[in-house]
Amino acid sequence: MTTSPFSLADKTILVTGASSGIGRATALLCAQQGARVLMLGRNAERLAETLGMTGRPDFHRVLSVDLCDQEALEALLPGVLLSPLSGMVHCAGISTTLPFRMVREQHLQQFFETNVFAALHLTRRLLKPALFSEAGGSVVFLSSVMGLTGSPGKTLYGMTKGALLSASRSLALEYAPRKIRFNCISPGVVATPMSAAAVYSRDEQALAEIRARHPLGLGEADDVAAACVYLLSDAARWITGSNLVVDGGYTSQ
Ligand SMILES: NC(=O)c1ccc[n+]([C@@H]2O[C@H](COP(=O)([O-])OP(=O)(O)OC[C@H]3O[C@@H](n4cnc5c(N)ncnc54)[C@H](OP(=O)(O)O)[C@@H]3O)[C@@H](O)[C@H]2O)c1
Repeated sequence: MTTSPFSLADKTILVTGASSGIGRATALLCAQQGARVLMLGRNAERLAETLGMTGRPDFHRVLSVDLCDQEALEALLPGVLLSPLSGMVHCAGISTTLPFRMVREQHLQQFFETNVFAALHLTRRLLKPALFSEAGGSVVFLSSVMGLTGSPGKTLYGMTKGALLSASRSLALEYAPRKIRFNCISPGVVATPMSAAAVYSRDEQALAEIRARHPLGLGEADDVAAACVYLLSDAARWITGSNLVVDGGYTSQ
């Protein structure tokens, strides 16, 4: 029997943000496609829920940690990585809509710390030859259409997502000799706790306007998870340094 190139069997995949939204959907789809999944997030209760939803809690692992806490990561990560990684999807992130005149130093620090620096510190740790498969693999960063286009109040968030797009292109070139691929996924608005907490979700008219800008309607977390699984799989083995836009047509207009 031949294995599908889309299968993740025999791969160990780390998913950050696995306690919620897109990260949870990605962790579950990776597990469904045969991967052993290490699920990272801060909220231990919701991580345990994700683990339970896999139906194989003994096979997968969770790690409750703040990705901005480098000391905790240094201490905890090696203990939960039972086999070298074939891939990582970095979904953990924070979002806001904040007029530029209100952006302060503390916001810049918080957003770059969480959305950019945490991603890069984690990636650097995982790329150590002892932790990442010798056969290579795939790293996916969750960017956003806000890293590609602008919108009022999105300077702060958009800058952090644009930084991930730039980083992934150079990382793709630097790690091609080790056959480690780097790609981004840029979703439009997806129904998750993050978008539910956004200001536009509290205003009927604003929400209708956001909907109207997505010709295929708003996305579901599973729509983005499927794109993540594709980029993790061997079916995408010749794709690196790319940005896969998953936005229901948002950026086509
Ligand atoms: N939803 C959208 O419309 C949309 C659109 C474009 C891009 N994105 C991007 O997609 C990614 C996932 O978004 P989502 O909608 O699934 O958001 P979400 O439901 O709010 O989930 C965010 C996840 O990030 C984790 N996280 C945040 N800060 C962390 C930290 N310091 N350490 C560890 N984990 C941390 C959260 O963990 P805890 O809950 O355990 O704290 C949670 O699991 C984000 O990068 C977001 O920017 C989302």
